[in-house]
Formats: sequence, C-alpha cells, structure tokens
Amino acid sequence: MRYQPLSAATYREHRARFRQAMEKGGLAIFHSNDIMPTSADGSMPFKQASDIFYLSGIDQEETVLLLFPDAVDAKDREILFVRETSELLAIWEGAKFSQKEATELSGIATVLWTTSYEATIKRLVPQCEHLYLNSNEHLRQGNEVETREARKNKETCAQFPLHSVKRSAPIMHRIRSRKTKEEVEQIQRAIAITGKAFERICGFVKPGVKEYEIEAEISHEFIRNGSRGHAYTPIIASGYNACVLHYITNDQVCNDGDVILMDFGCEYGGYASDLTRCVPVNGRFTKRQRDVYNAVLRVKNEATQLLRPGTLLADYHKQVGKIMEGELIGLGLIDKNDVAKQDPEKPLYKKYFMHGTSHFLGLDVHDVGLWNEMIHPDMVFTVEPGIYIREEKLGIRLENNILTTRDNPIDLFADIPVEADAVEEMMNRVGKKVMA
Ligand code: GLY
Ligand code: MN
Ligand code: MN
Repeated sequence: MRYQPLSAATYREHRARFRQAMEKGGLAIFHSNDIMPTSADGSMPFKQASDIFYLSGIDQEETVLLLFPDAVDAKDREILFVRETSELLAIWEGAKFSQKEATELSGIATVLWTTSYEATIKRLVPQCEHLYLNSNEHLRQGNEVETREARKNKETCAQFPLHSVKRSAPIMHRIRSRKTKEEVEQIQRAIAITGKAFERICGFVKPGVKEYEIEAEISHEFIRNGSRGHAYTPIIASGYNACVLHYITNDQVCNDGDVILMDFGCEYGGYASDLTRCVPVNGRFTKRQRDVYNAVLRVKNEATQLLRPGTLLADYHKQVGKIMEGELIGLGLIDKNDVAKQDPEKPLYKKYFMHGTSHFLGLDVHDVGLWNEMIHPDMVFTVEPGIYIREEKLGIRLENNILTTRDNPIDLFADIPVEADAVEEMMNRVGKKVMA
C-alpha cells in the first residue's frame, strides 16, 4: 500500500456510529464502485465508493459490507465480501485482499468471497425488518451513470418487495461530517504534501511558464510523497482565466504582471485536501493586486473565526457575504448607496464573489454533511472567499482547511504562507534555491 491506512479500531468506531443510528431489525448493505470503462478494453483507475471505504478501509472493487446488529448468529452481524483472489488474478492484476488481510485491515471477523453474496442475502434478509440501502444524496450530485450501488439496490428491492426500506445516506452524512481523530490526522498528511507542492511551485513560477507545467510540478510532488495524485482536477489559472471558476484546461502561458490562481490539493489514503493560493507571475504583486489580495485575506480570516459550534451554515454564509460587501465597497467595486437599495435576494457582492465560502471536506473534496444543521466540533471545512474582476483580468481566491473545535477553529494550513509578503518572500527564496 502506498499509504498508511487508518487503524481497524477506527473502522470499528465508524461502524459503531452507523449501528447506533439504525432501528431495531435493520440490515444495511453497502457496495463498492464499479471500475468505469473508457473505450476498447480501457478502464478508469478504480475509485472506491467513499461510504464503504469509511466503514471498512477496503479499497478494492466488488466489495460489499453488511451490517446486521440483530442477526441471530453473531457471525452474521458484520459481514465483509471481497473479490475472490486466485493465482491467475495475482499474475494479471496483482494480489487482492486475502480474507485474513481484509479482517486485519477492517476489524471485521467474517470475511467471505463476493461470489457468496447472493446466497447470504437470500438467507439473511428474511430475518430482518428493514433494509438500509445507500444512495448518493449529495446536494450537488448530478451524474447520469448508474452506480453499482444503485443497480444492486434495484435488484434487492425487486427480490424483497415487501421489506421496509430506509435510507443510509442521512446517517452517513451525519457520521462522516464529525471526523474521528485518525481521519483528521490523515487529512493533515494530505495537507502537508499539498504544502510541499506549493513550496515547490513557488520556486518554479516565472514569466513564460505554461499553466500545465505548474500542474506537472504539483503532480510530481504529490506522487513522490505517497499520494495517488490530485483529490480533484486542479485549477491553474493565470490572468483572466482566474475569473473562470471551473477553469481546468490549464493550457495558457503565464505572463509577466499577471497573478496565477492555483486551486489544488492532494488525496492521501483516500482523504482530500483543498488549497487555493494566488501568486504574482513575476514575484511581486502590484499595488492593486495586493489591495484585492488583502481584502480576500481579511474575509478569509474573519470567516474562519465564525466557524464555531452552534452556528447555522446558512447564517455563516450570510455573515461572510456582509464582510465581503464591506471589502468590495472599500475596493470601489460596488457602491454603498447601491448596496443600501439592493434586493436582499440578489446582493450586489455576488457580482464579484459568486460562489459559497465553505464546504465540508473529507473523503470527498465536497464532502457530505448536514447543511441545515449547526456546526459541531470535529468538522473540517474549507474557507475560500474570492474576488473575481473580469474587467481587470484578476481573480483572487484564498482557501484553507479548518477543523472546528469546542472553542477556537484550527487552521490546518496554518504553516503554509498566505500573507502577500510571505508569498513573495517564499517565491524569492525558493526560486533562488532552484536556480542555484
Ligand atoms: N477545488 C474545489 C473547491 O475549492 O471547492
Ligand atoms: Mn479548492
Ligand atoms: Mn474548496
């Protein structure tokens, strides 16, 4: 394995959290993702479904997990199915989990081959009252491709049409949003690698480099540190491109006098980090660039302090909007008299700051969580305000990852330079080292 997995004790704790939320007589089923095809005999690299990974640590296709706390036979209370390994498979694809290895990693005593899943379901479902089935209830999910889980859910419902069906997703959203200690440590490992990559590119950026050359430097630093790569498609956007919020072509030249917005983060052991930094291509911000940069920085810092237990995320976003409004008036981008008359449903600040300030972070970069509930301790959020001025070909966003506690929020990117002076200093220092 190229990463240190979480301990079996942590996976046990994750499953205990799920069980506590189940009703009596419930049987929960979680499936892994498919290996997605491309063309001809090609396939995408396998990406495990986050929920089964969270509950078992098994990063392998054709895995299934059953949680049935009230099963008559204790051996049936937790069952993990893994793809049957063989000599042939070992030669062509490499070793798969043995049953013993799967037990050691997940802490699940009963591990069977996936080929016995159908027979096991036939035996156990008649014993249960409720089937807990999982689905993608992420607020922004919108994929037309049917997942393995959705396909299997249909089969299960067709086979057992009279069982009551309950949704696992709201439970998963709740438990995954409160990070366990080892999860935070894993996110911190991802963050440390992302920080190294930022340092590396500070020494690399200069007028004339292509955006994709910067991307390549980042990928290099990620992979040499045990990451599988980017947690999401990176945005390396110089000049005007920074105003295109989902710019991912990364194919333009970085010009003297422009600022580059870089939104990137590595995954480590399945966990994401999510950083945005903006640097001047020539190593020095102009006065205007610095003014906009500092305005975004102040919003980021104030927003971070608002991430405290008891706050509703909707209220938090409104408060950050107010702070941004003040900064945009200060920069002369919106007028305070116009703001006084604005439609509260369409605040003027949205012309320059059109996205949300924060999202949950974890196994998924836009992680699951309960958006309509209060912030709790042990949640990890991004804070990522931005100002995008198309007419000035300038876009600034600054993004750090924050752990909530009972008290002060902890900035997990606190060691990565963010003040304009510190960024310039780092470009200068690391750049000289690279040239020496
Ligand atoms: N990189 C995606 C985001 O910042 O939300
Ligand atoms: Mn980001
Ligand atoms: Mn983000």
